[in-house]
Formats: sequence, C-alpha cells, structure tokens
Amino acid sequence: MVTYILYILIEEEIAVKAAQDLAGSIVFSKDKRGMYIVKSFAPELKVIGIGRSAAAFRIRETDKVIKVFFPEYTHIAKEEAEIYQLLEGKSYFPCLYEWGDNYLVVDYIEGKTLFSCLTEGVLVTSDQIKGVDEVISYVKKKGLNPSDIHLNNILVTPKGEVKVIDLARFRETKDCRQWSDLRYAFYHYYSRPLFPKRLPEFFLNFISSLYKKNILRVKGL
Ligand SMILES: Nc1ncnc2c1ncn2[C@@H]1O[C@H](COP(=O)(O)OP(=O)(O)OP(=O)(O)O)[C@@H](O)[C@H]1O
Ligand SMILES: [Mg+2]
Repeated sequence: MVTYILYILIEEEIAVKAAQDLAGSIVFSKDKRGMYIVKSFAPELKVIGIGRSAAAFRIRETDKVIKVFFPEYTHIAKEEAEIYQLLEGKSYFPCLYEWGDNYLVVDYIEGKTLFSCLTEGVLVTSDQIKGVDEVISYVKKKGLNPSDIHLNNILVTPKGEVKVIDLARFRETKDCRQWSDLRYAFYHYYSRPLFPKRLPEFFLNFISSLYKKNILRVKGL
C-alpha cells in the first residue's frame, strides 16, 4: 500500500515537472509589428494556436494542451485556472489538469474554431449558436460574466457540439457585447440563404479589426 502511494506521488511529481519543463522550453520573441511569435519549443509540443496573451501547444501523444502565457501576461494563468475550477464538471469546457506560474494544462478539443468554420465553408448551425447560448447562461448562473466569447474561442467538435475555451476574462465586470453581436450577425446575415457560407480570412480579420476599433457596430441585444 505504502509503495503504491509512493508510486502515485512520484508519478504526479513527474507529471508536474514535465509540464513545467515543457513550459520552460518555450522561447517567445516579437516580430516587426511587436506581435509575439514562438521561436522554439520542446519536440514533444506542436503549436495549435496563438492568441493575444498566450500560445497553445498540443502535447504530442496525449489529448492535452499546454497554454503558455507571454511574459507580460503570466498573471492570467492563475486567474484562468481559478475560473476553470469554478466551472468544473461541465462538458462545455475542457478539463483543467494542472497549472503553474505561466501555464495551464487542459484537454485538447478536437475540432474547428468558428473562425475556421467560416473560412473553410463548414456550415455553422442554429443548434450550435443555441449551444453557446446555453454555455453563457450556465456561466452567468455561476455568478460570472462571460466575456471575450469570440470566433476563435468557440470550437465545434466533429460531432457538432460546441465547446468554449479561454475563460480568463469571465471575472471582468465590464459589459462584453461580443457574443450578442455575433449572435445577431448569425441570425440577420449568415443564416440568410444568399449569404456566402465561406468567407476569406483577410475579410473576416478586416471586419474584426473594424469592430474592435468601434468603427463597425452591430445591433446585438
Ligand atoms: N484546449 C484547446 N483545444 C484546442 N485548441 C485550442 C485549445 N486551447 C487553445 N486552442 C487554440 O489556440 C488558440 C489560442 O488559445 P487561447 O484562445 O486560449 O489564447 P488567448 O491568448 O487567451 O486568446 P485571445 O486572443 O482570445 O485572448 C485558440 O483560438 C485555439 O485555436
Ligand atoms: Mg482566445
């Protein structure tokens, strides 16, 4: 029995060290525009996405992702881990396995972001939009403020279910209209029969930059 407990403790220690080592292997630098890029990383990792505050890597041979925050954003690791813990137990989000000073380890979600669905012409359905509404109601019921729900933070699995990633801003107090605006755009533009179901990436990025600068306004509720 004692040997078994010792074995479990050693195994856990190895897992913690491994994630810390993996996070420590990542070197970030900035490009000419001042945007973070990933310069090098351990061979066990594969880059799967780069956001504003972190880069996400699949840990090869596993179904896990390590999200490593850029130097100015490392404090978000603790914040996001706490939110994962508050929301745990629902399949709406990946599970959190562990976290450290600058990283989180969560489930890898197989699927496409809504952004990729739009650029690749994969049909987005009203059931998926309702699925995100359901996630949002649940987050609100838990006393949080679902913020920063945008096209790259929603994944559609091969079974057509939606999962929300990137929970870091759910304790912000300011009103975030992104999801209600996206929802409005879905029902008033995208779902119309003649609206194109495949959109060029540059066009979506352009629309998104106008939206962020408040030049483009949507009438979401
Ligand atoms: N668990 C996951 N499973 C699959 N893909 C993921 C996962 N986590 C992150 N990604 C991919 O990596 C991208 C960046 O991750 P994430 O959104 O967590 O970073 P961020 O810097 O917090 O983003 P933002 O720019 O929205 O603030 C996501 O848009 C997604 O494509
Ligand atoms: Mg994100």
